[in-house]
Parts: sequence; structure tokens; C-alpha cells
Amino acid sequence: MTGEKTPLKSLTQWQALEKHYAKMSKVHLRDLFANDPKRGENLSLEAAGIYFDYSKHRVTVETIKLLSALARASGLRDSIEAMFNGGKINVTEGRAVLHTALRAPKGAVVAVDGENVIPQVHEVLEKMESFAAKVRGGKWKGHTGRKIKNIVNIGIGGSDLGPVMAYEALKDYSQRGLTFRFVSNIDGTDFAEAVVDLDPAETLFIVASKTFTTQETMTNAGTARDWALARLKDKAAIAKHFVAVSTNAAKVKEFGIDTKNMFGFWDWVGGRYSMFSAIGLSTMIAIGPKHFRAMLEGAREMDEHYRTEPFDRNMPVLMGMLGVWYNNFFGAQSIAVLPYEQYLKRFPAYLQQLTMESTGKGVTLDGRPVDYQTGQIYWGEPGTNGQHSFYQLIHQGTKLIPCDFIAFSKPVHKLGRHHDLLMANVLAQAEALAFGKTAEELKKEGVKEWLIPHKTFEGNRPSTTMLLDELTPAALGKLVALYEHCVFTQGAIWQVGPFDQWGVELGKVLAGRIAPELEAKTEPELAHDSSTNALIRRYRASKG
Ligand code: F6P
Repeated sequence: MTGEKTPLKSLTQWQALEKHYAKMSKVHLRDLFANDPKRGENLSLEAAGIYFDYSKHRVTVETIKLLSALARASGLRDSIEAMFNGGKINVTEGRAVLHTALRAPKGAVVAVDGENVIPQVHEVLEKMESFAAKVRGGKWKGHTGRKIKNIVNIGIGGSDLGPVMAYEALKDYSQRGLTFRFVSNIDGTDFAEAVVDLDPAETLFIVASKTFTTQETMTNAGTARDWALARLKDKAAIAKHFVAVSTNAAKVKEFGIDTKNMFGFWDWVGGRYSMFSAIGLSTMIAIGPKHFRAMLEGAREMDEHYRTEPFDRNMPVLMGMLGVWYNNFFGAQSIAVLPYEQYLKRFPAYLQQLTMESTGKGVTLDGRPVDYQTGQIYWGEPGTNGQHSFYQLIHQGTKLIPCDFIAFSKPVHKLGRHHDLLMANVLAQAEALAFGKTAEELKKEGVKEWLIPHKTFEGNRPSTTMLLDELTPAALGKLVALYEHCVFTQGAIWQVGPFDQWGVELGKVLAGRIAPELEAKTEPELAHDSSTNALIRRYRASKG
């Protein structure tokens, strides 16, 4: 197969979009709005409590029709069904992909290899709930009989980014008497700072790792065990201060954690799709079982929408296809995610793994190199902070950067004018990006001739505005599911596998080879390239 052309660009639907792009690339949003006074309403939709305004995109109704046709021609409908029904669509790992089963109701039936997985999902949820209630109620005592006050989640990638994002997002729902910390980096600073003011007698570690072999997590977990035992001085303390979230019971046992203190999940939950599984244990302890369930229900609402709505009214499909439109036709390289909600400060970082580990692939599922761009670069910061940093480039730079604005009608904290001002800013940014400011307008304002080029905003810079009522656990569930399904949509179009991540392996293998060379007592024989060899020698010499 390798070397053969992929069929995507030969699809008539793709070619129709190429033609359409030639026309649309010259159209300005100012004209699109002028020609349709109701464009704002016409090109927006509401589902699962999210108002999704895509009118400030360089699209017409025809564009949406063409994009939907491409989605249909790419077999998206069948792919969605295959995912929801437990098909082994993670081809390179031979696995089903069922993060949607994590939020399915108790009575649902979803079979993998002939076995309904829903009872297991609910069994684990109930086990998590009972444990979370004990910790929250002060009934889970440490080895010395003291209450647990601190919860430290040790994990990386999907075993960290979802939990930390959700904790930050829903902090206002969290039990404030408990302290939550998240340790991910192999850099010892991460662990050292996380525990600097904690007492081991009051600290519970959640070791979260799907595989329970990840170098960073196992190193941090080992350090945590040493740190706890240095003070608690009794191996029996491990049972009270360490629990595990994993699919690998044997490794959990080997580490010394009693498997009755292990919360399981399954190979059909990808790491970056796992925040609603037991990987969310820290989230559940923080916000409580009721709010965790509400988050699952929010995600389920979006699942239902994705599964049933026609593509041209389907939010994740539209979001995904708009990404394809800019990525593959306008040549845009990145998307900025700009939540106007401080509590969503880790949302862009969370999305980076979700999107870029999923669609950052250069071959199709059947192994053919792609001859088109795939995964986009996701990045962003909460507004309004970003406005005083990188927005300059989005407004007047030479790159086209579509933006996802996320805002909430009700603030979590009602404080004077803060929320109205925050909202004024997000609306103003989307307006400024779309419409810009012309030289004529500046002239009329009496701006000096020589300054006009500097003060002109060409506009025509696309954005989506998502408006939700309030940042609740359910709202977060909906947003996460929206992006998950957006990624799935794009994977189907680009024909790449969004559920494996072979690209992270080589670095891991090489680090495994280099570590002993850095630690060897005698000068090791080095067989890397001359640059790596020199760096290793220099490091060894200077570390002393
Ligand atoms: O290195 C990438 C990765 O495999 C991610 O996909 C995953 O979320 C992360 O490592 C952590 O893996 P684990 O949960 O097995 O420790």
C-alpha cells in the first residue's frame, strides 16, 4: 500500500470544495454580512445548551452543503456508528473506542467481543463514588489515623491533563477543605513543589496510568512512596496513602498497591479520552459524585446530538469540517482556543493532547502517506489575557488563525462589572477580527496618512463564538465531548487513526538508551550522532 495515493483529493466532493474555495477566498465577511442581514441567526445553531455561532466564518450556506457532502462521502456516518457500537476502529492497536460508553446510562448495551461493557462502567463508577464519599467525608483515614486533606494525582498526558483541567475548571464546585495537586513531569521540581507544604500523614496519592509503565509516572510514584515512607516509616502505610487508576492490575500489585484500592478501566478508553473514566477519580473527589454524574450527562447529551443530527446541523461535525476548510483549503496551520473564563485556563493545554496526539498523523489508516495537511496546531490562553499578548498577530499578522471563542452568559463569580466587561471583550474581539477597520474609516476619523497602514485592520479573520449559560460540570462535559467528536470527524475526513500515538514511541526508546549513558560511572562508549554524543559528554562533565 505504501506509496499509493490516497483517494481523498480525487473525491468529487473534495474537488467541488477546491472550486468553491477559489471563489470564497476572495469574499470578505463584510460583504457576506451586508448581503444577508440575518446571517448571524442563519449561520448559528443551538444544541445541548451551547449556542454555536459560525457566521463569522468565511463560509456560505453552499460551503456548509459542500463540507457536509464531503463528510458523507468520507463515510463519517458509518464511522460514528462503528465507534458508538464498539467496532474495533483503533485499527493499529486492534481496539474498540468507547469513551462514549463511559457516559452511557446504566441500562444501555454496548458490546465489545460479545460482552456488554456498561455494567463494568457503572460498577467502577460506584466504586469511585463510595471511595470519593469516604475521602470527602473524612472517613478514609491515613496510616496514623489522621484525615486525608491532600490529594496528589500522579499521571501524565491523558492521565493528567484531563484531571487537572477539570479540577481547575470546576474548582468552584470543589470541596475547599481538600487540597489538590497534580504531578506529571519527570522533572523533580514538579514533585518537590507539589508536596513542599504537605504532610504525608494527611496525603493521598492517586497513581493514574493506563499502562502503569510510563516512565514519568512510575518515577514520580516511586519518589512519592519514598517521600511518604520516610515520614510514615511503615510499609503498611502504602495501603492508606496510595490508590491506583489503571488497566494493568499486575503492575499495580508489583508497585505495592493493593488491587482492592485500584480503580480499573479498559483498553477501549484512549488515554486522551479518559477523563470520564476512573482517571477522573481526583475530579470526583474534588467535586463529588453528583457533579461528576452531571458532567457525564452533559457529555452524553453531546454524544446524542453527534450521533443523530444531520451533518449540516451537527455541532461537532461543523466544527470539525470548518477545521478542514481552513486547514486544507486556506492553508491555515493552527487554531486558537480562547476561553473567556479564567477557570478554563488549562482547557487549551488539554485540547492540545486531545487534538494533536489524535490527528497529528502522516499516513492513512491503511498505511498510505497523505498528500494533504492533517492535524492542526491547537493553542490558546484565556481572554482577556491573550488580548494583551498574542492577539496582535491574529489581528494584523500575516497568518490566518481561526479562533474558537468560548464564553458564558452567567459568571461563576458575580463581581461588579467584571462579567459584562469580559463579555464585551469577547464579542468585540470576534467583531474586530471579522470586520476590521478600513483605511476609509481611519481617514474619516482624521488619522494621519502615514499612520493609516499601521492602523488598518483588514478583517476577514474567522472565528466561532460558543456561548453557554454557565460553567457547570454538565457544561464542561458538553464542551469536552464536542471537541472529542470534532477530532473524530476530522480523523474520518483525513482518513487517519485518531486513537493511536506511535509518534511518541521513538523518543521514549531513545531516552531509555541515553539515561544509562548519563548515569554510567565510567565513560560510556557513545554511538549516537556527533551532536548527541557531544551533548552527552558535556552534560556528564558539567554535572560532576
Ligand atoms: O506518551 C503518550 C501517552 O501514551 C498518552 O497517550 C497517554 O495519555 C500518556 O502517555 C500516559 O499514559 P499512561 O496513562 O499509560 O501512563
